[in-house]
Amino acid sequence: MRLPQFGIFAQGTVAHEFIEFDVRAGVDKAEAGRLITQLEQPAVSAGGVNLVLAFGPDLWRRLAPDELPAGLGPFREVIGLGGKGAPSTQHDAFVWISGSTRDIVFEQSRAAVKAVADVAVVATEQACFVHRDSRDLLGFIDGTKNPPVLEAPLAALVPAGEPGAGGSHVLVMRWIHDLALFETLPVSEQERVFGRTKSDSVEFSDEEKPATAHIARVEIEDEHGEELQIYRRSVPYMRLAEHGLYFVAFAAEPIRFERMLQRMFGLADGQRDRLTDFSRPVSGALYFAPPLTLLGLKEETLHEREEVLRGIPLFATCSAHDLTSIASRVQTREYPAGATLCTQGQPGDGFFVIVDGRAEARRDGSVLRSMGPGDFFGEIALIDEGPRTATVTSSTPLRCLMIGSSEFRDVLGQNADIAVRILDAVTRRLRGMLPPIDQG
Ligand code: HEM
Repeated sequence: MRLPQFGIFAQGTVAHEFIEFDVRAGVDKAEAGRLITQLEQPAVSAGGVNLVLAFGPDLWRRLAPDELPAGLGPFREVIGLGGKGAPSTQHDAFVWISGSTRDIVFEQSRAAVKAVADVAVVATEQACFVHRDSRDLLGFIDGTKNPPVLEAPLAALVPAGEPGAGGSHVLVMRWIHDLALFETLPVSEQERVFGRTKSDSVEFSDEEKPATAHIARVEIEDEHGEELQIYRRSVPYMRLAEHGLYFVAFAAEPIRFERMLQRMFGLADGQRDRLTDFSRPVSGALYFAPPLTLLGLKEETLHEREEVLRGIPLFATCSAHDLTSIASRVQTREYPAGATLCTQGQPGDGFFVIVDGRAEARRDGSVLRSMGPGDFFGEIALIDEGPRTATVTSSTPLRCLMIGSSEFRDVLGQNADIAVRILDAVTRRLRGMLPPIDQG
């Protein structure tokens, strides 16, 4: 079974951050997508937050051409009746981070932006919150008719056996409310706008419910009369000058969104949702949130890396937690015999630990040392950010774990024992480069 992104269904968080990204001009989209995928790894998604990651249709096509779910496409502008409508503001990727406190969500959001900064820029960002008992700012409970958690995957996920199975189509729209105008209506009239009572969200009977009521507009069925559901996770946002709803919903097929919007804006039967008199969308984008399995994050992969790390003396004293954290930061690299991994005098961008095979370090052409499994190199240039002190070449086919420079500093900061072992190695290597001290 493919694991969906659990954050889609996670409940109970009150702080939310939504970020849309655009791939930087000139950056290869597939390459960018692969890096953005790393956001699901614990470096960003751990620390008490849920993270949902989704890709715009173009980016997903480049990343996984064999896993294109039916109907995948960008958000199309809706031009509705009475001058109302919904603009298209499609971007390349979408990240939703939610947690129990605003500070943690902010920290992890910054970490996410930093992690992809080389390939993507922030196009939009929106901080949101849970208002009272999950009420929209218009005062009505939002989510009453959402499918319950056990049924939500049926509404939200592409069914098994189809391309993109276990993934979810995401509709993201920022709506701005005219609260002052809505508040001129008596409560009984506000209730007719939604088709539910305001205090306790009781649905009007079919006779009482106006055809233009919001819930009458968004109820759609398949050809057998079965209701087609979506799974909504919208939350309000607020500033005194501008406030409204950040509408976020997940669906097994994007046509459900399209049909609901057509009905809301009067394009299906000439009836327009009265809610659109009091709120207007200023953004609209569709994304695809792939299952974890397609993000390459099978638990086994992380587990395999942990096993490799456990066998290396440098990491021998790490706790299980430290190993998981380091495993999420390393990359496995393979090289044929004769490959140059670092060049003397060039800047360094990685710390390497040999897993299999042998390599030689040379300085000014002379062999400094021969290295095998468990040996490591590359730390000096990462510590002082200076040039490499030696050239390292593989003497046999080589498999290494590579840690980038900022991750290397994180690992050192996290585990004093590893820091001491590396300090010890650096000292010995530096002594080896100095002329012998005359003790006579
Ligand atoms: C300003 C924007 C919106 C607001 C304030 C809003 C608010 C609400 C509220 C208060 C309810 C009733 C309680 C509930 O069942 O959750 C509701 C229901 C619903 N809304 Fe919205 N909504 C908005 C936009 C949308 C959009 C854009 C869609 C779809 C594209 C949508 C789809 C639905 C659906 C499917 C239901 C459940 C209907 C039912 O089966 O009873 N909503 N919404």
